[in-house]
Amino acid sequence: MNKVLAKKQLGPEVFQLEIEAPRIQKRWKAGQFVIIRPNSNSERIPLTLVQSDADRESITIVIQAIGNTTKETVEKEPGDFLVDVVGPLGEAASMCEGQRVVCMAGGVGVAEVLPVASAFREAGNHVTALCGARSDGLRILDAELKTSVDDLRWATDDGSFGFHGNVLQLLQSFAQPGDFGVGHVIGPIPMMKAVANATRDWGMKMYASLNPVMIDGTGMCGGCRVTVGDKVKFACVDGPEFDAHLVDFDELARRNRAYREMEQRVLADHVCRIGLGGA
Ligand code: FAD
Ligand code: FES
Ligand code: MG
Repeated sequence: MNKVLAKKQLGPEVFQLEIEAPRIQKRWKAGQFVIIRPNSNSERIPLTLVQSDADRESITIVIQAIGNTTKETVEKEPGDFLVDVVGPLGEAASMCEGQRVVCMAGGVGVAEVLPVASAFREAGNHVTALCGARSDGLRILDAELKTSVDDLRWATDDGSFGFHGNVLQLLQSFAQPGDFGVGHVIGPIPMMKAVANATRDWGMKMYASLNPVMIDGTGMCGGCRVTVGDKVKFACVDGPEFDAHLVDFDELARRNRAYREMEQRVLADHVCRIGLGGA
C-alpha cells in the first residue's frame, strides 16, 4: 500500500499525484515507469515516473483520466492509498553528452518528457523542448520545463498559445537536417509515427517512448509486444524507448485498439456507478 501525499489538478482531466514510495524514489531514472493498481479490484496500468523527493521519500506521477482505471486513480485524495505501486520498470532513457537534443511531446507525454529533457541537460547537452497541447488552457508543467531546458517552445492546435499547429510542424518551421544530433519523442501514436518519418533522413538518432498495453510489466504476458526493425521486443523490459525510425507504428496502433470496445463498456459502467450516467 502506497499513501497519496499530495494531489494537484494540472488541467481539466490531468492530475498530479505525489505518492510515498521510498524504494522507488531511491532507484528510478528518467524514462522509467511504475505499474499501479489503485484499488484491489482494479486492473494494472503503467504510468511514467516524473519526479521524486528524497526528503519526502516520494515519487510523482501525472495521470490523464481517460478510462476506468485512470479515473479511479485520480479519485484518490491525500491520505488515501494505492494498493500496488511496482517499479521502477523498464530501461532508462538513452543519454548522450555534448549534443544538440530535441525533445518532442504531445498531450500528457509532456509529463514523460520533463525528466528525460532534464536528464539530457544534466548530461551536458543543449536541450530544446517542443511541447504540444490542444489549446493554451491544456498546457501542463510549463514552469517546470522552463527551468529544465535551454529552449522551450509550445505548439497549440488552435493557435491560442505559441506556434499554431502540431509539434512536428513547429520543428519543421525552424529546424533543418543537421540542427539536432539526437531526439526523443513521446505522445499519440500518429504523432510519433509522423515525427519518425519526417526525421528519417535528418541524419539524427530519434528515440520514441512507446505506449503499448501493459499487463504484468515483467516481460511474461506478451501484452506489450512491439516490432522494431526485424526484431520482436517487449516494451516493458526492452523499452519503453526504441529507435523511432525502426518502430512498426501501424502494428502498435492496431494492438492498442484491440480492447477498445471492452474499455468503453467498463468506462460507461464506471460513469454510471459514480452517478454521472443520467437517470
Ligand atoms: P482504458 O479505457 O482502459 O484505455 C484507454 C486507452 O489506454 C486504450 O485504448 C489503450 O490505448 C490504453 N491502455 C489501456 N490499458 C492499458 C494498459 N494496461 N497499459 C497501457 N495502455 C493501456 N498515461 C498517463 O496519463 N500518464 C503517464 O505518465 C503515462 N505513462 C505511460 C507509460 C507507459 C510505459 C505506458 C505504456 C503508458 C503510459 N500511459 C500514461 C498510458 C496509460 O497507461 C493509459 O492511459 C491507461 O492504462 C489507460 O487505462 P484506463 O483503464 O484508464 O483506460
Ligand atoms: Fe507483459 Fe510487457 S507487459 S510482457
Ligand atoms: Mg482500462
